[in-house]
Amino acid sequence: MYIGLDIGTSSVKAILLGEDQSLIASATSELTVERPHPGWSEQDPDSWWAACEQVLDELKNKVPTELSAVKGIGLSGHMHGATLLDKAGRPLRPCILWNDGRSGKQCAELAEKEPKFMSLGGNLVMPGFTAPKLQWVRENEPEIFAGTAMVLLPKDYVRFKLTGEYVGDMSDSAGTLWMDVAKRDWSDDLLAATGLTRNQMPRLVEGSESSGVMTAEHCSRWGFDTPPVIAGGGGDNAASACGVGAVDPGSAFVSLGTSGVLFVTNERFSPNVDGAVHAFCHAVPETWHQMGVILSATDSLNWLSGILKKSPGELTNALGQISGPSPVSFLPYLGGERTPHNDVDIRAGFSGISHDTDDLVLTHAVMDGVAFALMDCLEALSVAGTRIDRVLAVGGGSRSRTWLEIIASLLNVSVNVPVDGDFGASLGAARLGQAAALGTTDGIFTRPALKASIDPVPSLTETYAEAYDRWRKLYPALKQAGF
Ligand code: XUL
Repeated sequence: MYIGLDIGTSSVKAILLGEDQSLIASATSELTVERPHPGWSEQDPDSWWAACEQVLDELKNKVPTELSAVKGIGLSGHMHGATLLDKAGRPLRPCILWNDGRSGKQCAELAEKEPKFMSLGGNLVMPGFTAPKLQWVRENEPEIFAGTAMVLLPKDYVRFKLTGEYVGDMSDSAGTLWMDVAKRDWSDDLLAATGLTRNQMPRLVEGSESSGVMTAEHCSRWGFDTPPVIAGGGGDNAASACGVGAVDPGSAFVSLGTSGVLFVTNERFSPNVDGAVHAFCHAVPETWHQMGVILSATDSLNWLSGILKKSPGELTNALGQISGPSPVSFLPYLGGERTPHNDVDIRAGFSGISHDTDDLVLTHAVMDGVAFALMDCLEALSVAGTRIDRVLAVGGGSRSRTWLEIIASLLNVSVNVPVDGDFGASLGAARLGQAAALGTTDGIFTRPALKASIDPVPSLTETYAEAYDRWRKLYPALKQAGF
């Protein structure tokens, strides 16, 4: 038996898998995000741990016998969050999350001062990443910076609670921007650029390797017969790739979660900072990946659902089959954008609203806008030399067939829909837990059973290509107008 524990932005999910990777039980506990200032995004690290305790308690109530036989646990989590701990391992402040935009000024200064962020780190210095957040803390909260004994990513704080050890994995740690990504090691130069050293960083392991075992106290609380091995695990996107078997070079997926991601596996470190392509280590050894990331995918739909007072499912179901793009355009930049603009200040916009515009048209516009932003990611990846003709779809938004049809036709790719699309990151985490417990990656990262494969519809491809040409003129216009 294996557990996958995914620290998502909006919830913690635990799944329990059998030896054959069949799903035995799952549990979810919701999380909240605090936005104390415009553009800021924070979470209390102890709320992750409380949610983990809750989901493990729930698994114990539901399936105590199966739980007692767990041999391996894998962790995944939202990436880049700066979790600052004091000498005693206590959080010094709320975690600054991946979609927090406060460090724009620090990004510009760090990029100017240390070009190795782009060469060794392989990425533009973007406010989502961890390094510029620490520079912000250094400048704005010097006493907290001075007291920082350890910097962890969100899932690694949960690991610390489970094992008592400070360990990070390669895929998530690459998103700090303190790593020499090709060497799969911390870079002393990049750490020094933000006033830090290796002593404040966790030990690094591969995602499929063991990072330690669960403490005796937790084993007795949840009734594990032998202490489960805790795998290195992965950032949520690399873990999702493990969940859908995207570990071989060229395999790709699209994730419609809070953020939207177009992910492709590479056999070597392949940075391309133009177009804000992300280049990180994968969660399996000697493998890397590239991705385009948009900050608000289902987050855009959730925002609209809050305004219209209808659930996201109600909105997308009401839309049903579509025959072309929405007459209204939407730019999904609710909290700025990463790929391709790297623009923390830009904000979202609707255009083309008329007397006829109703809830359906706005829903359609939001779904189109997210798809157009993913098309921008595809273009950025293709400038980086990467071709994609087939993707797997994961994340909550992949429940909408219409959304996937729009994406297939616009991106001109076939979209495969796995039977369990919702379990991407937690499934990948559980598989990494299995690999660490068994000491091999052989035969573990298989492709999922598909419930559908959605091909581009030629008439939609044509009308969406025209709509995309119009849509992409809106960002420069908004920018010029100062939004
Ligand atoms: C990736 C990114 C997001 C978060 C949240 O760079 O910031 O995908 O991992 O899911």
